[in-house]
Amino acid sequence: MELLHAPVRLPPHLEGKLLRKIWFVGAAMISVISGGIAFAAGAVDPTPVKSENGKYLDKEGNPTFKVAPDGTVDWYTYSGYRRYHSECHVCHGPDGMGSTYAPAVTDSLKTMSYGDFVGVVASGRKSGNSVMPALGDNPNVACYMDDLYIYLRARAHDAVGRVRPAKKEDKTEAYTKEENSCMGRK
Ligand code: HEC
Repeated sequence: MELLHAPVRLPPHLEGKLLRKIWFVGAAMISVISGGIAFAAGAVDPTPVKSENGKYLDKEGNPTFKVAPDGTVDWYTYSGYRRYHSECHVCHGPDGMGSTYAPAVTDSLKTMSYGDFVGVVASGRKSGNSVMPALGDNPNVACYMDDLYIYLRARAHDAVGRVRPAKKEDKTEAYTKEENSCMGRK
């Protein structure tokens, strides 16, 4: 009888093991849950953590957008909007919404990594009759990969709407320099 009322105590070495096991299962559950949420919301959190000459970067160093509370967008988002509408929208539809011919890239960028994006745009892709042309040799695309990625990432996260952004940050000198050298201008 005595034994039944006594608190259940495991031998010390087993108690430690059990605690570790509970901790491990708990940690595994947390990582499954947060992993699921992270995946649903996009591969990487798009929040900018730093900027380099007007280009914003997320915590993993990927290019990302910044939209101020008053709607002012970073230069890349604005530039990407313009480049997208001159080079991509004939197939992918206005504002990245997709067409009968090509997928909605605003959806693609909810999960597509920067590296995969650059790879597809530069080298193209083909699935049966569906062809994404390789655009890596087109300077109007190749010199603006980050702009395109950042604009479409902003669209994927609903940070900008289906219109030309009205207010934008200034183009930096560093950007102009890089752009001119990429485009072969002096
Ligand atoms: C001539 C039409 C055409 C043009 C122009 C075009 N695309 Fe595409 N793109 C496609 C098609 C079709 C696919 C789907 C290819 C497949 O099924 O594998 C595609 C696929 C993609 C994908 C992969 C989408 C995914 O969900 O996997 C990305 C990203 C993309 N295009 C970005 C761009 C960007 C950025 C531009 C402009 C610089 C552009 N495309 C210009 C036709 C085009």
